Amino acid sequence: MRPVLELKTPEQLKTMRRAGLVVAHALREMAAAVAPGVTTQDLDAIARAVLAREGAASNFLGYSPGWGMPPYPATVCTSVNDTVVHGIPGDRALASGDLVSIDFGAVVDGFHGDAAVTVAAGQASPQAQKLSDVTREALWAGIGAARLGGRVGDISAAVERSIRQQGRYGIIRDYTGHGIGTAMHMDPDVPNYGKPRKGPVIVEGLCLAIEPMVTWGSAKTAVLDDEWTIVSQDGSWAAHWEHSITVTRTGLWVLTAEDGGEAELKARGLPFGPLAD
Ligand code: MF3
Ligand code: CO
Repeated sequence: MRPVLELKTPEQLKTMRRAGLVVAHALREMAAAVAPGVTTQDLDAIARAVLAREGAASNFLGYSPGWGMPPYPATVCTSVNDTVVHGIPGDRALASGDLVSIDFGAVVDGFHGDAAVTVAAGQASPQAQKLSDVTREALWAGIGAARLGGRVGDISAAVERSIRQQGRYGIIRDYTGHGIGTAMHMDPDVPNYGKPRKGPVIVEGLCLAIEPMVTWGSAKTAVLDDEWTIVSQDGSWAAHWEHSITVTRTGLWVLTAEDGGEAELKARGLPFGPLAD
């Protein structure tokens, strides 16, 4: 069955943008706080403070996808080194050279935002920095492949191609990007690999979370006993970058970027197409 996709009105897209801005602000504050000696719980405290200050709710706290999964216990996922995604904040202090993916979401007036960045504590090794750069570039390649009348497979194929051009990396297949709107995870899935011209058609009002997850080794993952933490099976480090986006008649709108994606899009010759306030 073809999934029914939730299409937002222009008014609803503006609410999506408000949620996206809360996410952008919190990620900026958390990323700036990452340093040796800082714990991942410290990052969660920053996220909670931003939610309170901006009057938004957490979509991560208490989240369970079903099938008996325990409710997620924090407002942010902090995934360090060989943790790929869904790392739970704790009292572990970051060490210099650690690579932490910070994944955060917020709800404003019933509409969700979701984004992630990867940052190093102190000085990243060249290998870790390249891993993060490759993953971030793949995110923008995916965003840049989205257009009205195109298909979700165009995004997937662009993400995959971008990573493969950079060398031998593990492209996670066990987790994908997703539709987003009145829930955090909606149809369609947005895989980080695939074929152009396949999958659902991208139309006005569709909002997608694009989120490449990449390791410098194998793409195989395992789940820890806490039932949340996803690690690489071979211990290789991982990076994760994510934005929630929509496509308007005039171009791309990166809902979770502080500037709507303007700088990154223009740098790549891509159309920036926000709705007017
Ligand atoms: N933000 C993640 C995603 O990108 C999901 C987080 S799971 C949660 O899809 F339990 F932490 F909410
Ligand atoms: Co997501």
